[in-house]
Amino acid sequence: MNRSEFSNARILVVGGAGFVGSNLVREILQQNPREIVIIDNLLSSDATNIPSDKRVRFVFGSITDDRILANLSEDLDYAFHLACYHGNQSSIADPFADHENNTLTSLKLFDRLSGLKNLKKIVYAAAACAVAKKTYDAPSATTEDQPVSLYHDSPYSVSKIIGELYGNYYSQRYQLPIVKARFSNVYGPREILGAGQWRGTVHTVWRNVTPTFIWRSLNGEALPLDNGGNTSRDFIYVQDMARGLMACALKGEAGGVYNLATGKETTILELANIINEYTGNKTPLELIPARDWDRSGKRFASTEKAERELGFNAQVDIKEGLHRTVEWTRANAEIIRRSIAKHAKMMSQRAV
Ligand SMILES: NC(=O)c1ccc[n+]([C@@H]2O[C@H](COP(=O)([O-])OP(=O)(O)OC[C@H]3O[C@@H](n4cnc5c(N)ncnc54)[C@H](O)[C@@H]3O)[C@@H](O)[C@H]2O)c1
Repeated sequence: MNRSEFSNARILVVGGAGFVGSNLVREILQQNPREIVIIDNLLSSDATNIPSDKRVRFVFGSITDDRILANLSEDLDYAFHLACYHGNQSSIADPFADHENNTLTSLKLFDRLSGLKNLKKIVYAAAACAVAKKTYDAPSATTEDQPVSLYHDSPYSVSKIIGELYGNYYSQRYQLPIVKARFSNVYGPREILGAGQWRGTVHTVWRNVTPTFIWRSLNGEALPLDNGGNTSRDFIYVQDMARGLMACALKGEAGGVYNLATGKETTILELANIINEYTGNKTPLELIPARDWDRSGKRFASTEKAERELGFNAQVDIKEGLHRTVEWTRANAEIIRRSIAKHAKMMSQRAV
């Protein structure tokens, strides 16, 4: 990958204080950019994620704010759109907040960027979960041309598809050079449990399976498994994801879509066992009923197109990635504890 194209570039990262965004910003900083502008309203992130570097400028606020949009530099080279309303359960609790932060964000940003002359590429964070086939049988790899259902389990999932649709519209009508990166399940350092504001359910704190399992495991708690842990995901380490996003910006075809994944399936049972092994947690796994909204089943993504067209391969294997994430969590336990604790009052009013 020719990373030097980022040197001296001016780059926008919307949602850059978030888990993936803050890791992406750190990777790009190694390529010597002129400036990285982060726009983030800290709805689901913690300001400690923002690197203190003179090349990074942080603008606090929503990308739907017309003043923020009007003040965007006209000579951006690249933009990454990672803002969302995190996550599925929060969007079910408040579909309007999801619309404001997960759909309107994409529409207003794409509309504003379509007028920029020098923009080489905009990369949109799409979601593989909104496209993947739902099955509990042996899954096959989801390819980029997989038909998309019109029936979705959450407003979050609907919004991620609408983001792709608006991307296609602005690409066709206004030649906005958008590349859609379909994320599989990302894990790794800087996913801070409880980051940001209360978003209506306990999942404000327990974001995704990996950080939740690591935190509970480090605290000697039982890891909960629904369906006996027989669901599976394609887990990709966040640094690989950041490299994949950069490859989309440099080599992705304008208007194109790429899976960013490992192509490997890991069951939730396997994930739980690896994590407990690293932390030394001996508490037995806990079997619980399935979540009522979740029909997601087993899945993994095809990596062929990203390998062929972007030259992108995930490099960090799941055991190594989990090991690094456990160590990061140990080292950052105080920040995470504080972040969880600020929701204590709301959590106590609801069952976990
Ligand atoms: N992490 C994953 O496994 C995964 C999987 C599929 C897709 N994605 C997508 O990748 C992107 C990044 O996900 P993440 O895991 O880093 O989540 P995150 O919650 O850590 O990051 C999202 C960021 O967007 C910010 N934000 C929310 N509303 C905003 C607004 N109106 N204006 C500006 N900023 C706003 C949040 O404060 C947060 O910093 C999201 O678009 C998400 O849908 C992530």
